Amino acid sequence: MTKFEPENIARPRRSVLCVPAINERALQKLPDLDCDAVIFDLEDSVAVDAKQQGREALERFFDKTPLVGRETIIRINAFDSTFGRADLETVLRCAPDAVLLPKVDQPSDVHDISDILTERDGAENMRIWAMIETPRGVLNAAAISEAAHTPDSRLSAFVVGLNDLRKETGVPNLPGRAYLVPWLMQIVLAARAYGLDVIDSVSNDFRDLDGYATECEQGRAMGFDGKMLIHPAQIAAANRHFAPSEDALEEARSIVAAFAAPEAAGLNIINANGRMIERLHVTGAEKLLQMASAIDVRKADRL
Ligand code: COA
Ligand code: MG
Repeated sequence: MTKFEPENIARPRRSVLCVPAINERALQKLPDLDCDAVIFDLEDSVAVDAKQQGREALERFFDKTPLVGRETIIRINAFDSTFGRADLETVLRCAPDAVLLPKVDQPSDVHDISDILTERDGAENMRIWAMIETPRGVLNAAAISEAAHTPDSRLSAFVVGLNDLRKETGVPNLPGRAYLVPWLMQIVLAARAYGLDVIDSVSNDFRDLDGYATECEQGRAMGFDGKMLIHPAQIAAANRHFAPSEDALEEARSIVAAFAAPEAAGLNIINANGRMIERLHVTGAEKLLQMASAIDVRKADRL
């Protein structure tokens, strides 16, 4: 990755399924699940006395079960907690695509881990994802995102954690995520300012698939790349809602074609059947088409 440039790869992160590291039954299900990424959790979903059991389960799993075509992420406990160092050893042994840091409050939380990964010869392409789920994390989201612009930073994505944020702020779980939307948008903006992906928070009520679909639509409209999930029943809707729609793809193809035509040479603006399109729309259109191909490739990899 070149200095100060966002990762320029279309990587589907529509459905990011979380699995508690100690849930061996759920771990066994993963090869058959159609999610884009899996977060193996050593943090909130694993009781204090079961942390070591979780680390061992992950080391066995990564040793034996390649998850073709999906990103793998291990969520560790806070590095300065009793568990952080041992968790990071497990990360180094398992070599997932990324390590997810909980409750990131400030840029140094990212830099510290990035330095350790480098010192310990962690794979060069291992990324860092950051949970934004504390009041300070939300306030500092732009500064944390900017950390991605240091030459050796591995920061690649934010994941919003509303369960923690609601707990810390006392904002209740209201329909439409009323009162939380300004913070969510602030996090999206901070991520985009420095080219990070941004993943929406979990929906706890995994039997209410209608409410969940509405939340996916809202997350998509807010600009999120995908959603963190807790249950396999949530995968299909996330894949559908966060994928480029057929209409959007059709439009993207027509924008690319319109500016590729000889008569558009030297023009920055075209009248496309009564609607203005600008050359600046071409980049977005190309990105969308690349994402659609990446989704197809991922599907093919899994067959
Ligand atoms: N990943 C993979 N498989 C999962 C899964 C997950 N996250 N959650 C459930 N499953 C499997 C179950 O093992 C079960 O398989 P089985 O029928 O062979 O027993 C099947 O899906 C149906 O599960 P269900 O009975 O509906 O729910 P459950 O009681 O087994 O699990 C939860 C419910 C919430 C405990 C579980 O989904 C879970 O732990 N999710 C992740 C929570 C988490 O990671 N939280 C931290 C981040 S917020
Ligand atoms: Mg949390």
